[in-house]
Amino acid sequence: MDDQEILETSEAEIAVHWKEEDYIHPSNTFIAQANMTDPTIYDRFSLDNFPECFKEYADLLDWYQYWHTTLDTSDAPCWKWFVGGKINASHNCVDRHLTQHKNKAALIYVPEPENEAHAVVTYQELYIRVNETAAMLRDFAGLKAGDRVTIHMPMVPELPVVMLACARLGVIHSVVFAGFSGQACGERIADSGSRVLISMDAYYRSGNLLEHKDKVDAAVAVAAAEGQTVDKVLVYRRYPGQYSAKTPMVEGRDYFADEIVSDYAGSRVDPVPLPAEHPLFLMYTSGTTGRPKGCQHGVGGYLSYVAGTSKFVQDIHPEDVYWCMADIGWITGHSYIVYGPLSLGATSVMFEGVPTYPDAGRAWRIAERLDVNIFHTAPTTIRMLRKAGPDEPAKYNYHFKHMTTVGEPIEPEVWLWYHKVVGKGEAAIVDTWWQTETGGFLCSTMPGLHPMKPGSAGPAMPGIHPVIYDEDGNEVPPGTQKAGNICIRNPWPGIFQTIWGDRDRFVRTYFEKYCKNPESKDWRDWPYFPGDGALQAADGYFRILGRVDDVINVAGHRLGTKELESAALTVEEIAEAAVVPVADDLRGRVPDMYVSLKPGFDASEEVSNKVTRSIETIIGKIARPKHVYIVPDMPKTRSGKIMRRVLSAISNTMEIGDVTTLANPEVVEEVRVMVQGEG
Ligand code: PRX
Repeated sequence: MDDQEILETSEAEIAVHWKEEDYIHPSNTFIAQANMTDPTIYDRFSLDNFPECFKEYADLLDWYQYWHTTLDTSDAPCWKWFVGGKINASHNCVDRHLTQHKNKAALIYVPEPENEAHAVVTYQELYIRVNETAAMLRDFAGLKAGDRVTIHMPMVPELPVVMLACARLGVIHSVVFAGFSGQACGERIADSGSRVLISMDAYYRSGNLLEHKDKVDAAVAVAAAEGQTVDKVLVYRRYPGQYSAKTPMVEGRDYFADEIVSDYAGSRVDPVPLPAEHPLFLMYTSGTTGRPKGCQHGVGGYLSYVAGTSKFVQDIHPEDVYWCMADIGWITGHSYIVYGPLSLGATSVMFEGVPTYPDAGRAWRIAERLDVNIFHTAPTTIRMLRKAGPDEPAKYNYHFKHMTTVGEPIEPEVWLWYHKVVGKGEAAIVDTWWQTETGGFLCSTMPGLHPMKPGSAGPAMPGIHPVIYDEDGNEVPPGTQKAGNICIRNPWPGIFQTIWGDRDRFVRTYFEKYCKNPESKDWRDWPYFPGDGALQAADGYFRILGRVDDVINVAGHRLGTKELESAALTVEEIAEAAVVPVADDLRGRVPDMYVSLKPGFDASEEVSNKVTRSIETIIGKIARPKHVYIVPDMPKTRSGKIMRRVLSAISNTMEIGDVTTLANPEVVEEVRVMVQGEG
């Protein structure tokens, strides 16, 4: 696709119709207790004080050894933060809290069946479990600093325990969201070079105990086909001692983790002091090609950034009960369920299942019972809860002082329901814009300092200096109502270090477009390009419009259109496939799939079902298209390129524009009638 075509088919184009509302101010009660009410923080974090300003975040942590260089740019644009420093994330999230908070809840786990008790994991208990698990990983699985391990686990307390055990040893974890298929997991195992896989037999979702172990076997087979042998699989059991999956365990390869770890009862493993730039984890995310990217985050920079933003933007205090509804399998869960809150010694709630099962009151019952006062979720969940039970929150006695929305643009009317009904008009709301790659928030209001503007993420975070560029690299000034590509002028400690094993792709994808001098070692020459379209209002607030590339943000989850298209093309009958984002009332954006058939095949429901099944198997159910349209031909340019812009306009009932220059203009109307009906 050329640049113009990208802009024309993007989510940003669909979003442009949204309007902003007036400002809403946080309450005085909130401001009086907020962690950050000092406006001079923005001066302290100005470019004049860059990069030393970020010491303020790093100082929230314990360091074994202080750094000598705050930012090393010698390998631009692979930035190295806090060089010379030594640190361990597991120590910072666990051990250092024992002196004052050992009996405090670190994690509260809410299982899906409402008759199962909540599990409260105190900091002391977390310390014990992390140590024993680290001993198992080191002595039974043979893992050491620098090795990668893939974790394909649902929302159970063992997941953060395993992550922190890896962090203790310097083992680089790669958590793959449990909803991804075995095949998707296998590809990530192969790319990361993991020889150990940690998984689970089963977990609850919407009332069903879902088998999960079958994905393990698929994943190991896919990894093997790509040349990566997995020699140990550690399987946790949802009910320890009782295996809930039908898939047999493989002798000599699969072990029950809950059994093995009991051999390490009482073990203690000293946290390994790691160089600040040692990788902490990989998190795979979708890009514009079929192959997901392993975003590599470094321990010192990442942990500093999530600790700082959890304190100032999430406003977490020691006495708060904080609940982020995300899944730990995504970056939000890594940064704002596990590493950020635990580094501050907070109580972090995690839950199993979905927010709307058994009914739309579940979230509010949990909030009431645990006295949650900080709540964090995504627009898709807010839309679903609003639809399923618009009046439910009023029935429950909970009070949120602070709420977050993250992951997708939020429509002002949905924001207002969140504020009035969920937040009972009391909560300060932050709309946080960021990405897997960025580690933590890039734009958000500071809740004790700024008024909120429904539909706008807000100004940049302290120390983040965005700019909006047009396609030619000219700056678009604020207040012009002109959209462009939002970029960040400077590095920050939370930015990922590289794409695992693919530095060229890292440079190409995120820096090449607006790089001022590819030879330069000066960070000023390397603005970061996140792939989103945005508008900046005169007040400095950014409104994020959505992706400007071949990525679709489905219900806050990133999918590459190429990944979906490649999955469709594995179906025997399919000749061509094109995916476009379509606006959806509940999930924000969903993929619409257009396919054409090879000669000799006829369109049928069976063929559409095959396409959907293939996507579910290769990627996972989250990627299921809203529609599969079997079209007689794709609208194409004379040079044979599929015009996704036209398909997107048809799916979203938008102006189709001039199609006379196409090679086959007549097919456009045929496809339009197929999708929209006559008229
Ligand atoms: O398009 C932006 C959108 O989500 C993308 C990042 O997705 P992912 O890496 O999966 O991380 C999701 C959680 C941070 C971005 O490129 N996005 C994220 N937050 C917002 C958003 N769009 C609008 N408003 C937001 N607050």
